[in-house]
Amino acid sequence: MKNIPFFLLLALIFACNSGSNSSSSSSESPYEEKIDSLLSIMTLEEKIGQMNQYNGFWEITGPTPQEGAAAMKYENLRKGLVGSMLNVTGVEEVRKVQKIAVEESRLGIPLIIGYDMIHGFQTMSPIPLAEASSWDMEAIRRSSEIGAREAAAAGINWTFAPMVDIGRDARWGRVMEGAGEDPYLGGQIAIARVKGYQGEDLSDPLTLAACVKHFAGYGFSESGRDYNSVDVGTSTLYNIILPPFKAALDAGARTFMNAFNDLNGIPATGNAFLQREILKEKWGFDGFVVSDWGSIAEMIPHGFAIDSAAAASYAVTAGSDMDMESYIYLNELKKLVESGEVDEKLIDDAVRRILRIKYELGLFDDPYKYCNDEREKEIIGSEEHIQGVLEMAKKSIVLLKNEGQILPLKKEGMRIAVIGDLADDKDSPIGNWRAEAISNSAVSVLEGLQNYPGNSYQYAKGADLILGPTAFITEVKINTDDRSGFAEAKRVAANADVVLLILGENGFQSGEARSRSDIGLPGLQQELMEEIQKVNPKSVLVNMSGRPLDLSWADANIPAILQVWHLGSQSGNAIAQVLFGDYNPSGKLPMSFPRSVGQLPIYYNQKSTGRPTPPGGDVVFWSHYSDISNDPLYPFGHGLSYSNFTYSGLKVSNEGRKVTVSVDVKNESERPGEEVIQLYIHDIVASVTRPNKELKAFEKTLIEAGQTRTITFELDERHLGFYDNQGNYIVEPGAFDIYVGGSSNTSLGTQISIQ
Ligand code: BGC
Repeated sequence: MKNIPFFLLLALIFACNSGSNSSSSSSESPYEEKIDSLLSIMTLEEKIGQMNQYNGFWEITGPTPQEGAAAMKYENLRKGLVGSMLNVTGVEEVRKVQKIAVEESRLGIPLIIGYDMIHGFQTMSPIPLAEASSWDMEAIRRSSEIGAREAAAAGINWTFAPMVDIGRDARWGRVMEGAGEDPYLGGQIAIARVKGYQGEDLSDPLTLAACVKHFAGYGFSESGRDYNSVDVGTSTLYNIILPPFKAALDAGARTFMNAFNDLNGIPATGNAFLQREILKEKWGFDGFVVSDWGSIAEMIPHGFAIDSAAAASYAVTAGSDMDMESYIYLNELKKLVESGEVDEKLIDDAVRRILRIKYELGLFDDPYKYCNDEREKEIIGSEEHIQGVLEMAKKSIVLLKNEGQILPLKKEGMRIAVIGDLADDKDSPIGNWRAEAISNSAVSVLEGLQNYPGNSYQYAKGADLILGPTAFITEVKINTDDRSGFAEAKRVAANADVVLLILGENGFQSGEARSRSDIGLPGLQQELMEEIQKVNPKSVLVNMSGRPLDLSWADANIPAILQVWHLGSQSGNAIAQVLFGDYNPSGKLPMSFPRSVGQLPIYYNQKSTGRPTPPGGDVVFWSHYSDISNDPLYPFGHGLSYSNFTYSGLKVSNEGRKVTVSVDVKNESERPGEEVIQLYIHDIVASVTRPNKELKAFEKTLIEAGQTRTITFELDERHLGFYDNQGNYIVEPGAFDIYVGGSSNTSLGTQISIQ
């Protein structure tokens, strides 16, 4: 029993460990002494092992592999050379790997088990961009909590979320994972998600450590092509990209993930300015940074590191603490330390950070605390969770257009034609990051409509959207020529009182590596919609997509449009409740919808430029397109309701830098409805040019039929300033426009002066 002395020592170290908390500052951390003791008995190899994260691509419960990569991973678990695993799920599987780490390795340090629980584990919430449309922070917190509870019940203790990358370019498939284009809304949502995942106490076996990603700049991948280079100026970096990360950190997020992209020529993974200078030094982050998948190795094809050794050295020096699936730390770091190229202090710092989070999770108290078979059965897929994701799904729907109040539909006596492949699709609503969701398990639109049996429904697909099976790792094949179902769809539509066109993207058309250069309706759907509109113009487009699409034709020709995104397990039920008015839509767009792909990137918080207005006549010398308006089709913050809200009585006053804004919002309709009241500022003249509008506050509130509510906002220095090009936060005296309204295109505003 050669391990006994170490186990005894460890028992002593761990025994002193009573209670856990999620302190975010190392000086307050109760674990530092224990970490010191543990570090003092770890070999260099064991320390580097803590910095190594493996993907669990094999069935742990199957026979132990004798050769190949899986056998090597088992072997390294036993040697204490693995600090974390990802993609090992389920109590049985997690228990088995944890057992090897804890009971067979020399020091028995528990693993931290990571997983991409992005919008649900088995019971799926809407995709994050859809949830962002709710502008309902408590609902988003709750939805994140539901996912965390299920993942934690399946043995996971760390989620690679929230993704807080700003998305201004709908060509980039990963906009579905984020909160849209605005740093303030993005920051608020990041806070809600961190609270939802981590709860009050990280050591609670039903919470997860959050991982804020991708640090930083990934959302600005040039031309929306995934993994592409990112070149942004300091003003955009400090004012647009970084604020949601900082908000998540201030909310207590315990880990960060770096990114695949380079930022102004330096890969994020080897970027000391981002990880050391800003994150760890300036912001005082004392958790750890994990690389993105293989991103340490990818510094070689980036043309930044000449070989694996250089990549390891750059990454660890820059502050990447854990290597996800590059194998480079394990292969290279020991030699680099022994040769003096890498200071062992860097290794100690990384390991200290990793151990700190393991302590906070309570893994040293009980490495199996997330592994409880009863809890797994009870919690995953519970009725409470199903109701929770249904609530979230309803709140995520955005009513883009409703000419002639065609919606809500009557519940009785209507002949309704339902057209489109996605109407019958039980898989797409689950989205791309589907964790352990069961394929084809979402409620389809056709199923949801059955909850309203007073109408008759006739379904005709019209055309297949995709050809063949779909998978997370392969391209989706789109039907571009089989129109054989068109005739039947036209016949069904012609005989209906109203047509529901259920169109959009397959669930695997957005997400990682799913960039598109054409963001119209894919395949034959545009053509189908035009054919149907000819035979029955009384139609509603229900657009199920993972990104803003170009809906210009629909906007000009279809009276009502509902943006439903990929809504998760309860999709069809939520959509039906909105269509029939049992839920009054309250969503607002977190991302602008363009008029054409040529407008991208497009976002509401644009700057004025030196030539903002037409000079008059036909003169061309101003900032515009010759062939299209500068405005988006639907702006950020836009979203209608079955109620009708009017704004009046804007009052703005200030005492020094404290500003009070109030406005009366009246629900002019006969049904109660929720409105998101949005406040924007414009710093008119500043030492660094500022956007024409910046969201600084919002409130979502229920207003009863015929009622007026006065909404008051308080602003202070935290809202009035900006980051200069050195990253200093400053507030400059001068005039500010203050706008309030139900969308970013509001013109209800007034001016104040700040000293
Ligand atoms: C993604 C990350 C994700 C990781 C692990 C990468 O490809 O960029 O967001 O967390 O894989 O699955």
